[in-house]
Amino acid sequence: MAIEKEKKTCGQVMTEWKEFVWNPRTHEFMGRTGSSWALILLFYLVFYGFLTAMFTLTMWVMLQTMDAHLPKYQDRLSIPGMMIRPKTDALDITYNITNTETWDSYVKMLNNFLEPYNDSIQLANNDNCTPGRYNEQPDNNGVLNYPKRACRFNRTLLKECSGLNDTTFGYREGRPCILIKMNRVINFFPGANHTINVTCAAKKEEDVLKLGDMAMYPDNGNIDLMYFPYYGKKVHVNYTQPIVAVKFLNLTRDTDHNVECRINAANIVTADDDRDKFAGRVSFKIRIDKE
Ligand SMILES: *[C@@H]1O[C@H](CO)[C@@H](O)[C@H](O)[C@H]1NC(C)=O
Ligand SMILES: *[C@@H]1O[C@H](CO)[C@@H](O)[C@H](O)[C@H]1NC(C)=O
Ligand SMILES: *[C@@H]1O[C@H](CO)[C@@H](O)[C@H](O)[C@H]1NC(C)=O
Ligand SMILES: *[C@@H]1O[C@H](CO)[C@@H](O)[C@H](O)[C@H]1NC(C)=O
Ligand SMILES: *[C@@H]1O[C@H](CO)[C@@H](O)[C@H](O)[C@H]1NC(C)=O
Ligand SMILES: *[C@@H]1O[C@H](CO)[C@@H](O)[C@H](O)[C@H]1NC(C)=O
Ligand SMILES: *[C@@H]1O[C@H](CO)[C@@H](O)[C@H](O)[C@H]1NC(C)=O
Ligand SMILES: *[C@@H]1O[C@H](CO)[C@@H](O)[C@H](O)[C@H]1NC(C)=O
Repeated sequence: MAIEKEKKTCGQVMTEWKEFVWNPRTHEFMGRTGSSWALILLFYLVFYGFLTAMFTLTMWVMLQTMDAHLPKYQDRLSIPGMMIRPKTDALDITYNITNTETWDSYVKMLNNFLEPYNDSIQLANNDNCTPGRYNEQPDNNGVLNYPKRACRFNRTLLKECSGLNDTTFGYREGRPCILIKMNRVINFFPGANHTINVTCAAKKEEDVLKLGDMAMYPDNGNIDLMYFPYYGKKVHVNYTQPIVAVKFLNLTRDTDHNVECRINAANIVTADDDRDKFAGRVSFKIRIDKE
């Protein structure tokens, strides 16, 4: 039978295999002569060398078009977002004065947030800038002006809400402070040369009396122009963004208060656009339970 004819002994297979690996007659290794192997090796060397060169070149060209200090594509809104501190998931600040544990974490968050604003740190890291105008630090004809200096925002500017004299930020007497910050937008000049400020109010007209009076720090909730523009994390190393504090002086107890704070600046539109609730404004709930 055919199959039996083809059948080889174990010894034959071994000899054939040995001859395939090294054939002393034809001087072939694995079925190829030395020069054939050399050609193949050369081919792959050139082939992969070419691929590597292509890849490196493409990467290099890409990197040439990028600025190490500025994001190439910035799809951020030109309307800066706003956020509060202390920040909770639902932006809901609820507490009970007699139950210290309910507000302890808020005070901790505020202290942590304000640490970089300590006057001593601001004095060491940042400059005393001229108030009322932008702190522009342009690059001169391609000569990079890096790193850029930042302006001082002293913690003491927040007065009653600095947590310095009143270490509980008013939470203990039921006159709590909330800090409001505007998110950083690179190369943005808010206000277009006019003063900017933050104002807070009850979300509904009829709740204004229940919300009671508020105090703003710095005065009038002003944000000085000298804290702008922001040049980006890598360049503007010691930048501390300006903040505004609101202190609720006479909150009606056991009531949910819906508050909205917005920024007033000539070039920031805060129209009631429900698509982005945080564009130029922030809403939060505050409630103090009767002791
Ligand atoms: C506030 O906390 C105190 C002490 O824990 C408790 O007795 C009181 O019932 C709490 N009040 C409310 C409205 O939760
Ligand atoms: C900042 O000031 C607060 C209050 O004086 C102090 O407790 C804290 O240790 C200071 N932090 C730094 C980093 O200096
Ligand atoms: C911040 O405080 C330092 C001293 O701690 C003072 O020299 C500087 O004028 C203050 N700057 C502002 C903007 O208040
Ligand atoms: C940032 O702060 C550090 C620490 O005080 C200081 O050495 C450095 O000069 C500051 N850099 C700039 C660009 O302000
Ligand atoms: C803290 O209190 C002292 C004395 O009452 C006052 O001189 C100082 O301005 C207060 N500081 C702040 C940040 O409110
Ligand atoms: C602010 O005013 C100065 C001087 O009038 C002008 O050069 C600059 O372009 C203005 N900046 C903005 C953002 O409007
Ligand atoms: C805030 O700024 C707006 C315009 O930018 C101004 O009309 C308003 O009077 C300012 N409010 C305060 C309290 O300074
Ligand atoms: C606090 O608000 C109540 C009404 O909710 C009002 O009667 C009272 O006069 C206010 N107190 C102060 C100091 O404004």
